[in-house]
Amino acid sequence: MTVVEAVRWSVDGEAVDIIDQRLLPNELVRRELRTADDVCDAIATLSVRGAPAIGIAGAMGLVVALARHGQDSREHFIAATEALCERIGNVRPTAVNLPWAMERMCRIARDTPGSPSEILRLLRAEATEILYEDRAMCRRIGEHGLELLPETASVLTHCNAGALATGGVGTALAPVYLAAEQGRRVHVFADETRPLLQGSRLTAWELTQAGIDVTVLADGMAASLMRGGAVDLVIVGADRIAANGDVANKIGTYALAIAARHHDIPFYVAAPMSTVDPRTAKGCDIAIEHRDSDEMREWNGTRVMPPSASVYNPSFDVTPAELITAIITDEGIVRPPYAFVARRNSGVAAG
Ligand code: MRU
Repeated sequence: MTVVEAVRWSVDGEAVDIIDQRLLPNELVRRELRTADDVCDAIATLSVRGAPAIGIAGAMGLVVALARHGQDSREHFIAATEALCERIGNVRPTAVNLPWAMERMCRIARDTPGSPSEILRLLRAEATEILYEDRAMCRRIGEHGLELLPETASVLTHCNAGALATGGVGTALAPVYLAAEQGRRVHVFADETRPLLQGSRLTAWELTQAGIDVTVLADGMAASLMRGGAVDLVIVGADRIAANGDVANKIGTYALAIAARHHDIPFYVAAPMSTVDPRTAKGCDIAIEHRDSDEMREWNGTRVMPPSASVYNPSFDVTPAELITAIITDEGIVRPPYAFVARRNSGVAAG
């Protein structure tokens, strides 16, 4: 089974090598990010996207951007690291994985005694560790999620929370990949996901690459599909999970959760513990990214609405915890009532 690799080191180790997701499904082009500008641009334009993947790309991008500071004094090097972490960590506001990864990198730099080249060596190792940890977390999410899938499963998902959005087999799609690996019959319904079509362009593409059956539907069709009895369960990813279990994810997730509740269909969120933010008490405290109105006004250079009409274009919405049947994490399945807390040493516990 082919599972695509969204983010990795370039062969020379001096760049972050990503799939340029803007061009999918028509062209598979890899792009090398060699400067802070490249990294910030790739995250802002969604060349690399998905909460875990932008955290990984940010951490690796910091390392390549710092290469030019290798001869600086220690003081200048730490100042450059802090400034870059701040800059990269703020490119997109909703997914917590990005500031989480940048804070982790910044801590390593501050806590490491020695020369810039010694610190840089440890930063590279830490960024690689973030990538490998994510790969392992995806697999564990898949293993835990597998027990929620019936022997023959029809899974509805929204946006792309698959391999393209992570360092491994994805979050929402991880149980699907593992089921397929075991030879189980699994069918995915992928919401198209307006306005940038992550569902039809990306989820459908990566699943077809892996030989998994997928049917694309426009977002507004999900409720009637559910009413017809075609959906066993819904699994979506998350950009940030508040301490009370409210979940920010791609715009449209909330409507899907309401439709699932109405039709008595289980609604699961799959995410690594790095997506849980115990410092954010509830969903209404999560900053929601609003994107350029041109994403709505035009498609492929063609205007699709009258120029004088206004645009509402939030990239994410918040699904309240009471609509979520369970959260599938790398540490197990967490059921309501949700109460995530920060662990004393580090990380998050499902309190
Ligand atoms: O704007 P995007 O494409 O980065 O939004 C991505 C999502 O909303 C995903 O569902 C989420 O990041 C989970 S990815 C494992």
